[in-house]
Amino acid sequence: MSEHFHLGGDLPINRLGFGAMRLPTNSFHGPARDPETGRAVLRRAVELGVNHIDTAAFYTSGDGTVRANSLIREALYPYPAGLVIATKVGPVFTPDGGVGASHAADLRSLVEENLDTLGVDRPDLVYLRIGGVEGPPHGESVAARFAALAAMRDEGLIRHLGLSNVDADHLAEARAIAPVAAVQNHFHAAKRDDTEVLAACEESGIAYVPYFPLGGGISDLSGERMSKVAARHGATVPQIALAWLLARSPVVLAIPGTGSLSHLDENTAAGSIVLTDEDLADLTAE
Ligand SMILES: NC(=O)c1ccc[n+]([C@@H]2O[C@H](COP(=O)([O-])OP(=O)(O)OC[C@H]3O[C@@H](n4cnc5c(N)ncnc54)[C@H](OP(=O)(O)O)[C@@H]3O)[C@@H](O)[C@H]2O)c1
Repeated sequence: MSEHFHLGGDLPINRLGFGAMRLPTNSFHGPARDPETGRAVLRRAVELGVNHIDTAAFYTSGDGTVRANSLIREALYPYPAGLVIATKVGPVFTPDGGVGASHAADLRSLVEENLDTLGVDRPDLVYLRIGGVEGPPHGESVAARFAALAAMRDEGLIRHLGLSNVDADHLAEARAIAPVAAVQNHFHAAKRDDTEVLAACEESGIAYVPYFPLGGGISDLSGERMSKVAARHGATVPQIALAWLLARSPVVLAIPGTGSLSHLDENTAAGSIVLTDEDLADLTAE
């Protein structure tokens, strides 16, 4: 298993965690997957030592019948000591499938939806997620929405706050309001350009949680050098992609998503792969 990181300074978690978005569907709001397999994947993840699960109330199958938060509660409640569940609020969905951004006034009910569906009094980490996977909405203020979440944190409804899909200006704006424990942005071996935010996180001990760590099913990570390093370790390309992320910075936490037991085993084992200087040089050149 991977080494520990202290999320928010006080929650020790394994750096190799789990992303729950792929449990209800292997896309986003796509065809439902088998919920019993989803629950089995969650139970096995915890057996393997995973104690950081990333979720959202809006991670559901397209028909709404399978929902990540419900699977987590059904599979793992009462939650084992030390399990950290991170969720996110921000997007709102219209009945016709459209996506919009929430306002500060909407956030309390969105947080409460997570409390109810996960069965927790106080989530360990709640991200304010803005923008979309195409990147941060530069120039958009997060102040009103982050202040609304900070007020809920002060009331004891949230333990730690995070930000997702943000640039360095958003991070600085939020940090002037309340501490930021984690940033979750689009980053992986084939998309390494978020260096300013990563450096800011590194400087302040803020967790940097790359989403789409395996390319999210839309980016192919299997270049020649990636394959060479994988062969050297007797590992798979996804495993090396995860090991590279963990080696990229001590503040990086990996949350690979899968609805497959065999992929879960494979991904979790990547937490034990130690890349050499030669590997890292090869992967830098990839
Ligand atoms: N903040 C945001 O805006 C945002 C956006 C996207 C995702 N997220 C979070 O980030 C987490 C990770 O991202 P993600 O799940 O979208 O993408 P990902 O982890 O990069 O890739 C998941 C995809 O890769 C497949 N896969 C997983 N392990 C594999 C393996 N060992 N070999 C081959 N294929 C494998 C999965 O299919 P199988 O299920 O069949 O294994 C799935 O299609 C999500 O679960 C979610 O919690 C956040």
